[in-house]
Amino acid sequence: MKKKKFFLIFILVASICFALASFQSSPISRDPYMQMGTSDSIVIVWRTSRTIKPRVLFSEKLENRDREVFLEEISVDRSASLRSGDEDERSYLFSAPEGTHQYSAHLKNLKADTLYYYTIYDGDEAIAGGDLEHFFRTYPIDNARPLRFWVLGDSGKGNEAQKEVFQGLQGYLKKKNISLDFYLHMGDMAYRNGEDFEFQENFFSVYKSLLRQVVCWPTIGNHESYTGKVGYRPYNDAYVLPTKAESGGVPSGTESYYSFEIGSIHFISLDSENLNRHPAGEMALWLKKDLEKNKKDWTIAYCHHPPYTKGTHDSDTEIEHIEIREYIMPILESGGVDIVLGGHSHIYERSMLMDGAYKTPTSSKGVILDYGDGDRQGDGAYIKRAGIHPHEGTIAIVVGNGGAELSQGWVSSVMKKTLLEHGSVVIEVHQKTLKAVMINQRGQIRDRFHLVKSIKGE
Ligand SMILES: [Fe+2]
Repeated sequence: MKKKKFFLIFILVASICFALASFQSSPISRDPYMQMGTSDSIVIVWRTSRTIKPRVLFSEKLENRDREVFLEEISVDRSASLRSGDEDERSYLFSAPEGTHQYSAHLKNLKADTLYYYTIYDGDEAIAGGDLEHFFRTYPIDNARPLRFWVLGDSGKGNEAQKEVFQGLQGYLKKKNISLDFYLHMGDMAYRNGEDFEFQENFFSVYKSLLRQVVCWPTIGNHESYTGKVGYRPYNDAYVLPTKAESGGVPSGTESYYSFEIGSIHFISLDSENLNRHPAGEMALWLKKDLEKNKKDWTIAYCHHPPYTKGTHDSDTEIEHIEIREYIMPILESGGVDIVLGGHSHIYERSMLMDGAYKTPTSSKGVILDYGDGDRQGDGAYIKRAGIHPHEGTIAIVVGNGGAELSQGWVSSVMKKTLLEHGSVVIEVHQKTLKAVMINQRGQIRDRFHLVKSIKGE
């Protein structure tokens, strides 16, 4: 009896030691995540705490793993502590922990709208993936199927509210038996100062179950801008963003602002915090060029500072908001933008269909095109003509309710719905219809509108 007890204790201790040893030996320090997707390519990024022999195997079937990413398609960035001499500082991670290696594997020549499973190896040893949770789906071409994406802002506090907003989203998706194709972040994803460890704790660790499957397309917030300088920040280390129009649009030459296209949607991400917002500034000049070349059915633009808000911030008194409204909104609306998203203000605010509200202070006088709620189950959908037409209506949404403390000053007169409640937004686009819902921490729909592109009155 004593012998049996001893044997059981021995087995238990041995299992614990083995588990600890395997845990300690795992080189992964940032779980794999998706970046810069297209209909035929994607980038998988991960970090290790030591150098490895990186390999990525992937396949349409989990058991196969029949395709391998060539070594020349895997780039590596190392922590600054590993820098030895005069190498370009851009190829070093700004403030990653000592010994960090960040690998980016470029998977190419993929089939459109196809699900692939992936496994990451160190030589012959699998170190991440290889299960039903590690997969991605390439984007469809044009209107092949509905697209669904998550919009989240001001989440990076590492608090309970942040986690509950994510749980609310997951509950909503599960209940509806639907999934996301991608994710837009409105900035302030790494409070307090956008440092490397804050990205890890308040962004990558929290959303890793989603980030290993879909791309997060971000815009920089003020908090991410408190560390480093433009182009050289933990933000730039965290994201692999299109600077050469790798995912469509016009090349921006910078990670600060960029465009990309998914299905029938053209997206524009702008930097409202760090750069010149003037119409003659480089960002606005690029924006004009980008919009001129845009041929997609839908145009969605976002930046951290929204043009209209009366939440934590006041768009009538703070310069970033004023300049986005006075300088950037006229360019966007001339280019036929449909939706303008932002964060910064810790609140949910959603406008009516409107055009030309550039003055300061903002007034609803003469700028509202449809006073209804835009809900098919309410006043009816907002309608625009199909195709790209200047000044036919924009809906502005503040999605700054992703986790940070909520507060409200006033109610903006251009808003149809103002909610001082944590949550996030899910947008679905299929052919001529865009539907947006605000989902709270309990997974309940708290606001909804539809925007339909058809001949007016049809
Ligand atoms: Fe902010």
